[in-house]
Amino acid sequence: MSVINDAKAFQFELADELASIEFAGQLAEACEQGEAFADGLVVYLYGDLGAGKSFFSRAFIQHFMPGQKVKSPTYTLIESYNFSTNSIHHLDLYRLCDPEELEYLAVRDLFSENFIALVEWPQKGEPLLPAADLAIELIHQDQGRKVKMLAQSPKAEVLLESIKARLA
Ligand SMILES: Nc1ncnc2c1ncn2[C@@H]1O[C@H](COP(=O)(O)OP(=O)(O)O)[C@@H](O)[C@H]1O
Ligand SMILES: [Mg+2]
Repeated sequence: MSVINDAKAFQFELADELASIEFAGQLAEACEQGEAFADGLVVYLYGDLGAGKSFFSRAFIQHFMPGQKVKSPTYTLIESYNFSTNSIHHLDLYRLCDPEELEYLAVRDLFSENFIALVEWPQKGEPLLPAADLAIELIHQDQGRKVKMLAQSPKAEVLLESIKARLA
């Protein structure tokens, strides 16, 4: 079942893996230009198992760190990547048993400066997980994927407008 309301979402197709890598690169560029790191940005990644959340995250991280090995945080729950003064925190909360465990991951300290957080299975972290600026949902469609995006803060609105302009 879809999480993001169709009526409010910006939607488009990602026909294949390459399209997903390009989309991740476009969002990464928009983040760079919009100084998303300086303000901090929380991105929730919704979608079933195999929808492509980790695949998208890997491409996003590798935009900033070409060739960087990006392993799924399935068991560690969080993997952080640091470059210059910025950090990308990649979380997969599928195995989180209780949102209280987020305290041990020190999520509030990590989500404090010069960061972008990509969170798979954010539903598992509610209500202790910091709120999303941007929600992205990936949905199987034919051989590819459909993506839905929803801006939930003013800085995410700016990013979304930038993505729309890039795709136009
Ligand atoms: N746009 C796409 N079209 C087709 N296959 C895709 C697309 N994006 C990702 N995939 C494939 O989906 C597979 C599963 O993705 P993964 O990121 O592990 O899923 P999740 O983290 O959502 O469980 C990847 O191995 C990749 O090959
Ligand atoms: Mg995953």
